[in-house]
Amino acid sequence: MDFRQNLLQWFDQNARELPWRLTRDPYAIWVSETMLQQTRVAVVIDYYTRFMARFPTLQSLANAEESEVLALWSGLGYYRRARALHESARAVITEHQGQIPTTAAALSRLPGVGVYTAAAVASIAFGEPVAAVDGNVERVLTRYFGHEPVPGVARSGELRRAAEHLVDPERPGDFNQAMMELGATVCLPKAPMCLACPVREGCATRGEHAVPRTKKMLSQKTALALVQRRQWPKAEVLLQRRPPDASQMPNMWELPGVKEGQESQDMLLLTVRHSITNTNYYVTVYGLTINEQKLLARDTGERVWVPVLDLLEQPLTGLTRKILKRLHVLPGYSGGRPIILSEQEEAQANAAALPH
Ligand code: ADE
Repeated sequence: MDFRQNLLQWFDQNARELPWRLTRDPYAIWVSETMLQQTRVAVVIDYYTRFMARFPTLQSLANAEESEVLALWSGLGYYRRARALHESARAVITEHQGQIPTTAAALSRLPGVGVYTAAAVASIAFGEPVAAVDGNVERVLTRYFGHEPVPGVARSGELRRAAEHLVDPERPGDFNQAMMELGATVCLPKAPMCLACPVREGCATRGEHAVPRTKKMLSQKTALALVQRRQWPKAEVLLQRRPPDASQMPNMWELPGVKEGQESQDMLLLTVRHSITNTNYYVTVYGLTINEQKLLARDTGERVWVPVLDLLEQPLTGLTRKILKRLHVLPGYSGGRPIILSEQEEAQANAAALPH
């Protein structure tokens, strides 16, 4: 079939050299595919490298504490993935004698392993001819066949069957990765580069596709506090734990909130924007002295003083990590954005946070 041949030939010439493409270890491929769900390759590379250095084997991951797994995942988001990967690693050790199941059907019976990840791992690590359809692949197929873009729904029906039909039975893993690569580098969401596309001949739309509506972002304003005590290297930061039943990021650590109306501009440290799924958070961080702790919102979970030197090993939320880096409490922020918003940006943040 021309489609397969053209796609694979293109992939052979254009595949990016990514760390998980240098291995055949099913565990490593599973880790990479779990991280790559909903997250861009450029972001995943560092996380993957650090994760594999710390947990080089399935057994080492199964032996780890969940908090350490979350600490390595901190900033990558969608922490459920990390918890499920950890839980599944344990299940493979206890229920499968340490052998990762080799088919998509068996993989998808592990906790938290979805249809996409199961197909990706089965095809890449074990050569099973099954289609791995993520958002990128769905977009490629939708355009190629000229369907109306209907996110999510199409995946289960017609498009899925078409995808299964297209998969190369000889090189299913490369085929799936080639489809993802095409979606990520050529068949881009906004401005596809059709002239560079290896399958444009058969494409029904060639850039003339309908554009799906972009999801509407909500805005929310919050005020957080950085409270420190003691001098470096013994400095400590006050953090609090999110409730175990929180829908997002349960049990992870974050900065405490400031009581509404208690903020004062002389305590202002920085303003950041942080997006989580469909919400833009406009976050103002205030520096409080220990004596000003009465200004903290009281309602939430357990609070602890965490030594600054131990912060990297804690399961911090992505926002907390970002703030602590920008304030140089944690190493790793190399500038690039102003720390304090301009008046205009501040006004935009205020306008965005109006009730809707
Ligand atoms: N997205 C999901 N899986 C991927 C892979 N193996 N390579 C590149 N991008 C991906």
